[in-house]
Amino acid sequence: MPNTIILGAQWGDEGKGKIVDLLAADADIVARYQGGANAGHTIKLPDGREFVLHLIPSGIFHPDVTCVIGNGVVIDPVALLEEIHMIEREGVLVRGRLFISHNAHLIMPYHKMIDKAAEARLAQQKDGSAVGTTGRGIGPAYEDKFARKGIRIVDLLDRETLREKLRHNIAEKNELLEKVYGASELCDVDSIIHEYELFDQEMDVYITDTPLLLNRAIRDGKSLLLEGAQAALLDIDFGTYPYVTSSNPTAGGACTGLGIPPMAIDRVIGVAKAYTTRVGNGPFPTELLDETGELLRKVGREYGATTGRPRRCGWFDAVAVRYTNMINGVSSVALTKLDVLSDMPEVKLCTRYERTTDGKQIEHFTTDLRQLAAIRPIYESFEGWRALDMKGAASREDLPRPVQKYLDALEHEVECPIEIISIGAGREETLAAGSLV
Ligand code: IMP
Repeated sequence: MPNTIILGAQWGDEGKGKIVDLLAADADIVARYQGGANAGHTIKLPDGREFVLHLIPSGIFHPDVTCVIGNGVVIDPVALLEEIHMIEREGVLVRGRLFISHNAHLIMPYHKMIDKAAEARLAQQKDGSAVGTTGRGIGPAYEDKFARKGIRIVDLLDRETLREKLRHNIAEKNELLEKVYGASELCDVDSIIHEYELFDQEMDVYITDTPLLLNRAIRDGKSLLLEGAQAALLDIDFGTYPYVTSSNPTAGGACTGLGIPPMAIDRVIGVAKAYTTRVGNGPFPTELLDETGELLRKVGREYGATTGRPRRCGWFDAVAVRYTNMINGVSSVALTKLDVLSDMPEVKLCTRYERTTDGKQIEHFTTDLRQLAAIRPIYESFEGWRALDMKGAASREDLPRPVQKYLDALEHEVECPIEIISIGAGREETLAAGSLV
């Protein structure tokens, strides 16, 4: 299988877990390159068991696959160890198959406290500008990384330096929590040190020099599946800033988050849902605040896998996906949850925006919030396919005619071939153009 990046082409929750799980069958290594336990990848196994993974790459359910958590990921040891224990209880072998970068940064209890306190403070402000984060400490952990104050996994090895760094960090964070955020609960140095020393003992078997592991695998002709979390429109550089996550889910993040060269990557698959969802705040041009949006949420079971929050729902936005395809050099699209649209009497596809001030048509996405606030979507409408069954289709050509019309138009608008179509949660409910590998 060619070395492949799989990334979200919208605002997240596109169903990347399922696509990674499918392709992992032909990969040697599945590596996660950014984000943290803010992600929630849902995987349904052929025996009906369903899992939500937050940190461990979805490839773990394929016994011959090696899984890597790269240096670009921020790791919460509590979440990681919980996840390892959960899948071990289900009979999955993790030891010897999961490798974690020694340079990955750790999420500390104070990161989660600051994340929640900062959001609560923003929410109280008049303009209600809270990002709507997952509260998993992601932003504050990346802040420390870039301020060169972060604690990396490798730091756990040197206990004296670790204690010194933690003492310094905790004194500063407590001051921030108390004086800026008015928090009543503060961090205790000794209990954090004790807790992280215990984590270190348990995590030790998984820690390694992952860039070396990955580059040796590339040299030996092994195939790599590089898994992004969140999605391109939540990218810190290319998303709808500041309503974004604090890392680079876009294709470039795979190189910096894993330590592999760009030339080692053969293709990029953009995963997009057949409609659009978003969790948290920020612009969403095709959002439906009516009963159609409600129906999409209900049929698509659109509730956050990490936080349980109801997702905002709307029609497919081809302007946005055209943009993310461009930024990431997407070679093919995997379109998920097409079956959800079967309940709709009519299906719409946003092909352009119209500027509300002067009626000018806009073809290119912008991340400028003021411009996004002054546009409305222009839709192409499609007859629904309510009574027509998609089940049993073995290829795109077997799908009912109105579905094919929608797919043809969508493909044309996003300027990229759709090579994988998902019509249900199971591995078998997938239509692929030719071989997946
Ligand atoms: P954070 O990543 O927790 O800092 O949250 C920043 C923004 O990204 C918020 O709008 C979250 O709802 C969103 N976000 C983070 N992780 C995911 C995800 O896995 N799926 C969808 N949205 C996410």
